[in-house]
Amino acid sequence: GTDQLLRLSMDEVARHNKRNDCWMVIRDKVYNVTRYLDFHPGGRGELMRAAGKDGTELFYSTHAWVNIDTMLEKCLVGFIAR
Ligand code: HEM
Repeated sequence: GTDQLLRLSMDEVARHNKRNDCWMVIRDKVYNVTRYLDFHPGGRGELMRAAGKDGTELFYSTHAWVNIDTMLEKCLVGFIAR
């Protein structure tokens, strides 16, 4: 749920860069996309390009029309602390 969101650093996000443990940042929100990998219409490989990284530019250059807030609501882990 959204009741226990964390403040995270990019260093922490970078540790989750594997197919079985994959986090990604889009617009300062940190998502655990591990279980979404198999469902991404663009395939696992494309999604893994942003594994453990800030995928904002890749995401918006590929499909700015995709509503990530609703799609990945349940995958939200926290926010990047700035
Ligand atoms: C396609 C979701 C991240 C690359 C799609 C589509 C959705 C989606 C819903 C279908 C769009 C449509 O047909 O209109 C997401 C979500 C992401 C994400 C929720 C964030 C976790 C990425 C990243 C890349 C990427 C980081 C890396 C470049 C692609 C590509 C397609 C695609 C290339 C097009 C596939 C095709 O048309 O054959 N994605 N995506 N996506 N995605 Fe993503």
